[in-house]
Formats: sequence, structure tokens, C-alpha cells
Amino acid sequence: MKVLGVESSCDETGIAIYDTDRGLLGHALHSQVAMHEEYGGVVPELASRDHVRRALPLLEQALRDSGVGLDQIDAIGYTEGPGLAGALLVGASFACGLGLALDKPVLGIHHLEGHLLSPLLSAAPPEFPFVALLVSGGHTQLMRVDGVGQYQLLGETVDDAAGEAFDKSAKLLGLGYPGGPAISRLAEFGDPGAYKLPRPMLHSGDLNFSFSGLKTAVLTVVKNQITNICEQDKANVARAFVDAIVDVLVAKSVSALKQTGLKRLVIAGGVGANGQLRSALNAAAAKRQFKVYYPELEFCTDNGAMIAFAAAMRLQRHPDAARRDYGFTVRPRWPLEDLD
Ligand code: KG4
Ligand code: ZN
Repeated sequence: MKVLGVESSCDETGIAIYDTDRGLLGHALHSQVAMHEEYGGVVPELASRDHVRRALPLLEQALRDSGVGLDQIDAIGYTEGPGLAGALLVGASFACGLGLALDKPVLGIHHLEGHLLSPLLSAAPPEFPFVALLVSGGHTQLMRVDGVGQYQLLGETVDDAAGEAFDKSAKLLGLGYPGGPAISRLAEFGDPGAYKLPRPMLHSGDLNFSFSGLKTAVLTVVKNQITNICEQDKANVARAFVDAIVDVLVAKSVSALKQTGLKRLVIAGGVGANGQLRSALNAAAAKRQFKVYYPELEFCTDNGAMIAFAAAMRLQRHPDAARRDYGFTVRPRWPLEDLD
């Protein structure tokens, strides 16, 4: 079965083709980062318009790369939510229009399920069950994953997401958008002891997170310390921020493994691309004898491959899940636990 996947929930347009026999055949991606950069964040209306412009050329590219014709596609999966309403509507209407024209069934996919399953696209995928740490721009969750569609929420952020904390703190330091990679690079030059920032909820006794206080702590340091912040001080603050957030993410992941008795940890979402987080998790895994799995770097941030894959996995279990009525809705807010 060949499944076409369409991702358009935020600022990346992704189209991919996954074959249940041969694996990922091809995928094409366009990131809008450069377009949103000058505004310091994603401008929803611009995002929607750009998805409209990119979808068709990306489809053509994905088909070319896959060596597959449109007539060979068996079903189409698209991101139904969560995300920006207008952006989601572009992908949903594109997928449903294509399905109608080709007389192929369509299926709405949960964006976070795509992220959760993305490590299964790698050469050495984890087996079920595992604990997943989902760290993206909009979400921070620890889940127990027993199989496709079997997700149990263990803990989540009570305020900002990890990626949001990266982006907001980077903005306070005058770094561009998105701030995650920039603050991470700068932190490499920082002195680890120069500033100490709080580790919110580190000892809360549950598996929840809170990151808005960390961002406020960065703001306080930036305001108090420095009228004209020098480059070294910026790097020192960046280092303190990265150390604090990584400490919390690692500690809570270890607690989740202890609580569930599982030995496999899967990292998903954009922040999973972070080098400092990966080093700290690898060190913890070696010390505590668990195994940690990451998606390929290109599948950490938003992409069409994870949507095509999640759709294919769903259809293998529930062949009736795809529909041919082609009426569609999107779900900008859609808790993963509501997924049946
Ligand atoms: O998963 P994703 O592409 O989109 C959402 O679904 O939100 O994640 C984007 C987030 C952004 O906040 C970005 O700053 C963060 O992932 N990010 C990183 C890194 N690469 C992306 N954060 C820290 N270090 C990175 N290397
Ligand atoms: Zn995402």
C-alpha cells in the first residue's frame, strides 16, 4: 500500500510517499523559516498563503523522487490538527481535493502521532512499548506508547512548551527566529558556571513540566545584568538556559522510565534535534542502562514523511479508517488522548 502524506500544520509544507512494503519512497519539504524570520515568529496568514503556493510543486517533487505516479497512490493522509487553523485547512483541502479527483480514500492524522511514530522511520527503530518524550514548539509531553494508537499521557507542560521556551529565551537574547538552534549554538561558547537558572518543577514528584518561569528568569538576568549585553555574557546566559532545560527534560524522562518500568526512551519533535539534549540523554542512558532512540535529524522537525507513515500504520490496523466523503474539518486544538 502506498500512502501520500501531507503536512501543513505550521510553517513547513511537507509531502511524502510511504510504501508499507518498501518504506519511505520520497519526501519533499519546504520550510517557511526565512519568510517568518523578519517578524520574529510565525505569521499565520502568511503561512497559509505559502502552503497554497508550495503544495503542488512539492507533490510533483515527491512523486518524481519516488518514481511513483499519482495513479499508484492508494490513500492520502493529511494533518488534521493540532496546529494553525488556516494552515491546516490548506493541507486538508489539498488532500481531500486530490482524493476526490483520484477517487482515493483520505484520512486525517494527528500531528503529534506523526512526531511520536517518526523514530520508527529510522534504520534501527525501537520496539513497543516505550516512553516517548515529545518536545516541539507547541507541546511537551511524556507518553507511554504500547503500540500504534495506544498512547497514555504521563505528564505534560503546565504552561510553555520546551520549544517555545527556547524560542522566547532566544528572542530575549536578540537571536533570530526560530531560536532553538541559535541559542543552542551560542551556548557552546558559554561558561557553564557563570549564571544559575532555576530548574522548574524538577522535584514536583510528578511528570509535569513548567517552562514559563525559566524564560522569565532569562529576562531578569538580561535586564539586571547588562544594559549593553556583551557577546560572552549572552553566551553565558544561553549556556545557563540550555543546561537548565536539558536537566529538567532528562530528569523527568528518567523518572518516567522508572515509573513505567520501561527501558526504551524515544525522543520526538523539533527540540529532539538539540545536541546538548542528545548528549545528556545518551550519558543518562549509559549510566542507567536504558536505550534512547531519536528520529533522523530531518524528521525531528515537521515533515510529510511522519504523516504518510502514521497514516500507513493506521490503515494497516484499521483499513476502514480512510473515507471517501471528502468533506473535511480541521482540529486546531486536539488532545492526543482523544485519538481513538
Ligand atoms: O516539531 P517542530 O518542528 O514544530 C512543532 O510541531 O512545534 O518544532 C519546532 C521547535 C521550535 O521551537 C524550534 O526552536 C525547536 O523545535 N528546535 C530546536 C532545535 N531545532 C528545532 N530547539 C533546540 N535545539 C535545536 N537544535
Ligand atoms: Zn511538529
